[in-house]
Amino acid sequence: MPIAERDPPKGRRESYVLPKVPVPPLKQTLDMYLTSIKHLVKEEQYQKTKSIVEKFGEPGGTGELLQEKLLEKSINTHNWVYDYWLDDMYLNQRLALPVNSNPAMVFPKQDFRDHKDSLKFAAHLITGVLEYKKHIDTRALPVDFSRGQLAGTPLCMKQYYRLFNTYRLPGLKRDTLVIHETGSTEQEHIIVACKNQFFVMDLVVKEKPLREMDILSQLEKIVKMAENTEERQPPFGLLTSDGRTEWAQARDVLIKDSVNRESLAVIEKCLCVVCLDDPSGMEVGDTSRALLMLHGGGHEKMGANRWYDKPMQFVVGEDGVCGTVCEHSPFEGIVLVACTEYLMKFMTGSPSKIGRATSVSELPAPRRLLWKTTPHIQGLLKASAERLQRLVRDLDMDVHKFEVYGKEFIKKQKMSPDAYIQVSLQLAFYRCNGRLVSTYESASIRRFHEGRVDNIRSATPETLAFVKAMTDEKTSLSDSEKIKRLWDAINAQTNSTIAAITGMGIDNHLLGLREISQEIHMEMPEIFTDETYVASNQFILSTSQVPTTVEMFCCYGPVVPNGYGCCYNPQADHLLFSVTSFHGSTETSSAVFIKALDEGLVEMRDLCKTSNKPQSNKIRCRRSHSPSVLCGSLDRA
Ligand code: COA
Repeated sequence: MPIAERDPPKGRRESYVLPKVPVPPLKQTLDMYLTSIKHLVKEEQYQKTKSIVEKFGEPGGTGELLQEKLLEKSINTHNWVYDYWLDDMYLNQRLALPVNSNPAMVFPKQDFRDHKDSLKFAAHLITGVLEYKKHIDTRALPVDFSRGQLAGTPLCMKQYYRLFNTYRLPGLKRDTLVIHETGSTEQEHIIVACKNQFFVMDLVVKEKPLREMDILSQLEKIVKMAENTEERQPPFGLLTSDGRTEWAQARDVLIKDSVNRESLAVIEKCLCVVCLDDPSGMEVGDTSRALLMLHGGGHEKMGANRWYDKPMQFVVGEDGVCGTVCEHSPFEGIVLVACTEYLMKFMTGSPSKIGRATSVSELPAPRRLLWKTTPHIQGLLKASAERLQRLVRDLDMDVHKFEVYGKEFIKKQKMSPDAYIQVSLQLAFYRCNGRLVSTYESASIRRFHEGRVDNIRSATPETLAFVKAMTDEKTSLSDSEKIKRLWDAINAQTNSTIAAITGMGIDNHLLGLREISQEIHMEMPEIFTDETYVASNQFILSTSQVPTTVEMFCCYGPVVPNGYGCCYNPQADHLLFSVTSFHGSTETSSAVFIKALDEGLVEMRDLCKTSNKPQSNKIRCRRSHSPSVLCGSLDRA
């Protein structure tokens, strides 16, 4: 049975107690909000917003009332922002999951000699998943500690306990994140997708868990069954690629029939989905592999061989294209990296046991899931296929390895690599568009109980001054002025990062104030209907650092039609960027952005080299180990 989303997990609890996410001081957030938008909007609009914000924040005003309510909520809940954030970020969103929401992790290209090789890989991978799941069920995962800024703090592990036991159920207005009890016996199966067919593979037969050899033999049976065209079922996975409301409506139609109801129930309770893909026919490169993970190449390729609602979906392509596609609402990319790195290391470090074991040939064959269709349902499938195809055609993706230098060079300048890369992204955007825009960078707040993320607003005024120095004012400014502006930009970015990771970010706080106003049935305060607030939540640049220690990379799509998604993976001697945008926008081009990024990174290096005397980084609390050291103490010079 599913347990409520907020129930404490069973079993051994972590031996440390994490602080609650703080509610930042109201005035601090309002001041930071005004600073974050002043240089992004016209003066007249800024003045209008400023007076709205000041009215909201005046003594005894709406802001103080809402702040008081939030403070009360923070006392009475584990994490005051968790539900607001989950709804706003994911469950209320109506866009289709592929590209718009689900990130993907692309594994190194595999060299399979034949299709048997790819099944062996899949069997080994599933064995690794079961090993990892044992660590989860026994709560034996080692606690993560923060690295980089404010290193050494224990991090909340809750997201790990949502990897395999969750399911995003579509709803007409809001989806639901269903959570099954960890280790539940209802969850002793996986779903294997092959040729758009879905098969149930039980992992425990006659109370005995399947061994790797057994898993392989079950996969072989599945491939044979999938080839049987007479029993072939329509490609129902397509429905999960559709907009959330469309899928919810279709699901309401499906569940009128008991056959469909049963098939859905089995999928919704599985541990994970394993997609055995046919060769896509595409030339295999980093970009094409990333595309195949994000949308499967549409219904004509592998796009229907998926079940996008399931948080963990492993893809094993016969052509060596492998990876993981994730429904994002239960966990962040960093947790996904930890899990997939475990799997990669498991697969390279522990030899496959297939050669040595004897197969349990009498295992019952996996079951094919059946579907009842009607002309109406056929129409729904066709509509979903067309909408997925539009998404596929629209996605403009470019995966790029910048090889001139990596994070070690940046560290040698005594700069934060993350801040430096963020500044380079702003420079690239300014080069392409002649302006800066509202930018999202995910900042982990896992140092707090049930912490997820807040936003680092990277388009700072200091960065605007720097990017102008590198473009419009390039010839009129000296190198020393440029390097000074670079340091100002890096320091401002590092300060914003520290604010966000210590719970002093402004986006979660503003969201909380907005949502609590609705909870108490207040008319929406003007600060949240103001065009500046609305525009500042349209993240034209949506960025995220997802570093890996084994060879693989993460990617995701843009969050607005005229935006970029930019996921980066800083390595010691190179930087990997996955940039996405939509062909439908005349304002964006992933290739043009990458070119500008490349040029800017080289120019920034040259600038750093002109000054081999790095100025002191004015961040005072960088080495502190306490999450409660907040940015009241930051030098915002
Ligand atoms: N001089 C020299 N070295 C420095 C430095 C400086 N001024 N500032 C930082 N460094 C070093 C750090 O010590 C760290 O070293 P390490 O590689 O040995 O660990 C390294 O540079 C990286 O630090 P930095 O670039 O500052 O970034 P960070 O690791 O602190 O990361 C965030 C910053 C915002 C990305 C991180 O806090 C975070 O929130 N990550 C999660 C993002 C996320 O959720 N992504 C997934 C979304 S789905």
